[in-house]
Amino acid sequence: MEVVVEKVFHMNGGGGDTSYHLNSSLQKNAAERINELAIEAMEQTYSALRPESLGIADLGCSSASNALRYIKMAVNSFMSTPEFRVCLNDLPTNDFNTLFKTLPDFYQDLKEGNNNPSVFVAAYPGSFYGRLFPHKSLHFVFSFCALQWLSRIPPGIYDDQGRSLNRESVYITKKSPRQVIDAYAKQFAEDLWAFLEGRAVEVMSGGRMALLIAGRKISDYFSLDKTFLWENLYQSFLTLVSKGKIEKEMVESYDVHFYEPCKQEIEDIVRKEGSFELERFEIVEKEIDSSFSGVVMAKAVRAVQQSMISHHFGEGIMDELFDEYAKLLDKEIATNNYKVIHIAVVLTKL
Ligand SMILES: C[S@@+](CC[C@H](N)C(=O)[O-])C[C@H]1O[C@@H](n2cnc3c(N)ncnc32)[C@H](O)[C@@H]1O
Repeated sequence: MEVVVEKVFHMNGGGGDTSYHLNSSLQKNAAERINELAIEAMEQTYSALRPESLGIADLGCSSASNALRYIKMAVNSFMSTPEFRVCLNDLPTNDFNTLFKTLPDFYQDLKEGNNNPSVFVAAYPGSFYGRLFPHKSLHFVFSFCALQWLSRIPPGIYDDQGRSLNRESVYITKKSPRQVIDAYAKQFAEDLWAFLEGRAVEVMSGGRMALLIAGRKISDYFSLDKTFLWENLYQSFLTLVSKGKIEKEMVESYDVHFYEPCKQEIEDIVRKEGSFELERFEIVEKEIDSSFSGVVMAKAVRAVQQSMISHHFGEGIMDELFDEYAKLLDKEIATNNYKVIHIAVVLTKL
């Protein structure tokens, strides 16, 4: 049965041990590396448009402190102080309450800064693959570590009987048939197109978007950097099958709604859709060094994948699954050097 991503998918909420809030340092680190690029893009936008009231949106904001940190960076980067309309977007299943509870501290921090700007925060729950905001209401949009999440599991990975063609993997790996790879790439292209189409209506001419997307440095789909997390997750499922905790068929029918594009794919879609110009492009790399243990990596994946896994397999396997996963990742990290790769782009609305 098809999973409706919009109704199920969310980062682990709250502030507990398995929360996204406590397990999102990889995403925070990637975003920090493009601070300069994002600030420059915001300054250029402001000096070109000089609005009295500046509309900023964070798409795929999640519930962690990352969201308001980005907003603070945006607000503080403007030398003069216009009024800020801040739109926080995520899927309706997101834990917005945890985010809202941190707002008093956020406002207090701003007050203590130099400018004491007027900032009005509102939430816009919904999928960023459709329309979210009024016509020409935004000057600057950022979306960090979110656009690699597809709107759905690509329908092209199933055969006529609805069976997954990707039975020996949960994502693209060397074992995946070509049809599966093509279906993932096609879904990403359709989704990015829909994202650009929506923003084309909402962002005013001269406005900018800074996007940070988990991606591939080269066009090769199979570099281990890209597949080791998913291959080891698949192996952890198989361990639970061997212990009689889950059925093999359940594993064979589990696939993720995720895709890591390369530069060329993003460029092609931006050019063909035609509403934005690609102004800057950067690859952001982070080595998985000794600060990352198997447990740290497993918790990071759990914080983003738990909702989808528990929807498919049930809540009961979660601790055991991720304990197995952490052990496998420990071995993997000890013997190989991996990198987390993100693609940063700045787009200007034509
Ligand atoms: C890995 S988190 C990144 C959160 C935050 N931007 C950060 O940098 O820490 C990805 C976020 O994108 C959201 N997301 C995924 N697909 C989405 C969609 N179609 N519309 C809105 N948000 C979406 C997820 O719910 C999740 O909160």
